[in-house]
Amino acid sequence: MQAIILHQTGNKTNYSDLFRIEDVPVPEISADEVLIKIFNASLNHRDLWIAEGAYSKIRLSVILGSDGAGIIHDKGKNVNNFSIGDKVMIYPCSNWGSNENFQNRNFEILGMPADGTFAEYVKVRSSAVFKFPEHPGFAQASAFPLAGLTAYRSLFVKAELKNTDNVLITGVGGGVASFALMFALRAGAKVFVTSGSDDKINKAVSIGAESGVNYRSPEWQNELKDKTGNKIDVVIDGSGGEYYSGYIDLCSYGARIVSYGATLGAADELDLHKVYWKQLKISGSTMGTVSDFRNMLEFTDTNKCEPVIDKVFPFKDFPEAFDRMKDSEQFGKIVLEFAK
Ligand SMILES: NC(=O)c1ccc[n+]([C@@H]2O[C@H](COP(=O)([O-])OP(=O)(O)OC[C@H]3O[C@@H](n4cnc5c(N)ncnc54)[C@H](OP(=O)(O)O)[C@@H]3O)[C@@H](O)[C@H]2O)c1
Repeated sequence: MQAIILHQTGNKTNYSDLFRIEDVPVPEISADEVLIKIFNASLNHRDLWIAEGAYSKIRLSVILGSDGAGIIHDKGKNVNNFSIGDKVMIYPCSNWGSNENFQNRNFEILGMPADGTFAEYVKVRSSAVFKFPEHPGFAQASAFPLAGLTAYRSLFVKAELKNTDNVLITGVGGGVASFALMFALRAGAKVFVTSGSDDKINKAVSIGAESGVNYRSPEWQNELKDKTGNKIDVVIDGSGGEYYSGYIDLCSYGARIVSYGATLGAADELDLHKVYWKQLKISGSTMGTVSDFRNMLEFTDTNKCEPVIDKVFPFKDFPEAFDRMKDSEQFGKIVLEFAK
């Protein structure tokens, strides 16, 4: 099979120096595993962090990719719940453990250390495989797992979103953020966004957001205060950095802030007086349990949620796909396509 193999890490702009497309053996499956023929795989910022060496315990050489959709090509002798040819997607977490509130120490994500979905075939334990809801195609199904799960848990488990909430989703062009936008809208909340691009703000508004501000504007905080009527009940943030203290200023009493990422690094400051006086609830969130995944699929099916697909690249053009993510050019999910 052909696979995109990461051989070395580095903060280079030319991703073809780090990865090579190679012919490698199709993985052999055990009794409890299935072999999936991948039609589409989607990128996550995690793939970029790993390629750049900004991730712990990197194993090389490795096939990255946490998200994939395709068909069951082969199955182990203990697998009774799937037939060859079933259309499936993958729950990309292993070893969550028994506590719903947080993952085990040996928690893993598909696509490092285990070989992932940036290949024509991937092997996965059958308990992590789901037939996908009726409506999406393969490209759309491949967009859901990691980002959709993260957005779902952040909004519904951590922030306990209500339909009366005003929600702020930061960096709306991102993969997780684009799912948070869609899920919050379907749940009936009012959504406000930030982005570094006015075009992306306009796109979010065309999807259903109330309005948004460009975080590059020095006045972004005041602009957001005006637009939200000084009422923000929930913040879903994946970037952190110098903006974080501004979210605390903007929050209403009793607001919930959920951090699922820190693309810009640590928050510059945290005014604890505001945190306790406003009785804020600050949570972290990482992906989700298999029940969260099931609930997300049920929610997307019931509400006919369509992921926002930014662009689909033939897998051989993966360096362009990585460049697009590195330069924050995308709105939604970047998808790779393998031969059907
Ligand atoms: N905890 C978890 O389980 C989990 C799961 C998934 C992702 N993550 C982390 O979450 C982050 C986003 O992941 P992703 O896959 O969604 O990445 P992505 O698709 O590459 O999106 C990143 C987005 O960050 C936004 N951004 C850049 N500067 C910003 C700023 N100053 N303020 C607000 N947003 C800013 C950009 O939004 P605009 O284009 O709109 O400007 C960009 O599109 C990454 O750090 C990732 O590692 C964590």
